[in-house]
Amino acid sequence: MTLRFKLAALVLGATLGFSAPVMAQQPVNPTASSVQEQQLLDALKPGETISGRISIPDDNAADLQKPSNKDWMGFNLKVSDRVMGVALVGTLLALLVFFVVKGRLKIEAGRAGRTITRFNVFERTVHWTMAISFIALALSGINVAVGRYIVLPWLGYEAFGSLTYLGKLAHHYLAWPFMVCVVITFLMWVRHNIPNKLDLRWLKEGGGLLVKGKHPPAKKFNAGQKIVFWGVVVGGSLVAASGLLLMFPYFLDSATDWQLAQIAHALIASGMMAMILGHIYIGTVGTEGALDAMTTGQVDVNWAEQHHSLWLEEELAKGAVQRRGPGGEVTPAE
Ligand code: HEM
Repeated sequence: MTLRFKLAALVLGATLGFSAPVMAQQPVNPTASSVQEQQLLDALKPGETISGRISIPDDNAADLQKPSNKDWMGFNLKVSDRVMGVALVGTLLALLVFFVVKGRLKIEAGRAGRTITRFNVFERTVHWTMAISFIALALSGINVAVGRYIVLPWLGYEAFGSLTYLGKLAHHYLAWPFMVCVVITFLMWVRHNIPNKLDLRWLKEGGGLLVKGKHPPAKKFNAGQKIVFWGVVVGGSLVAASGLLLMFPYFLDSATDWQLAQIAHALIASGMMAMILGHIYIGTVGTEGALDAMTTGQVDVNWAEQHHSLWLEEELAKGAVQRRGPGGEVTPAE
């Protein structure tokens, strides 16, 4: 049941243009000029709201004080923000330890100097559009969630305010290319990402990390990459769906639904950011020769043999190998 206090409506409703307030039986005297917000809040039972009267059809607009909002804020402060911090810092530390212990995964046979096309221009354009938009979304999202602890002390209020405003714009507009790219990525690579028995073997053998010189066979994408692919497709869809609800709250019934969407958005995004940190590590410093696949589109055949032996066999059968000159120029292999 909703409590209505004369004074609350008079004081707060005057600013918001509420019509005549209603008085209910309350332990505090609503006409006392000394009535305080805390007294009004103390008088509320769990789930109750202090509301005014409005003449527009949106009931939510009548709410003046909704103590349950504090549960949502408390959850964000105590859980969501911490989950995000642990996901990001924990993953970075784990990758650092992994790098220190294992070092860079080398092309064991050295570079052959002959390359094979791994991704065409279209695939690379989609990948980098998705990557750049995701990174901008991640950074602006992190700023909204925890920027007040880690950025504000550095920048001060004015610069932090401007940065956060620009970040919010970036977050709203770059969500669109990101969502489009997730859909295209799904359509473009789903046929290479259907799980099969080879993936179990790849996982059992730790992707070749457990025994040096022994690499489990893989087709175009190995089990680790399939996890990233499905993480991006499923995680990206969920983060997009919850983000759209936050952007267009009119589709939701109540403020509580919006709060649930916000919590889901923050938690799923945290998981995705941790996964993508691992992906960026593997695609850059972690594995020699991997980045070529997404820059030039060509990979060395010895890299392909080590990481994707079955895919290489299929491609060789099509005669798809090139020779690279010392200046990087490409000529067909004899
Ligand atoms: C600086 C950032 C990034 C770098 C350096 C990078 C690098 C790479 C590389 C080298 C590959 C090809 C691996 C191969 O040849 O098998 C790849 C594939 C892929 N990337 Fe990225 N990437 C980045 C960011 C992202 C982001 C932000 C996303 C999605 C949100 C993403 C999603 C994917 C997916 C789904 C694949 C295919 C599966 C896989 O190889 O794991 N990448 N990336």
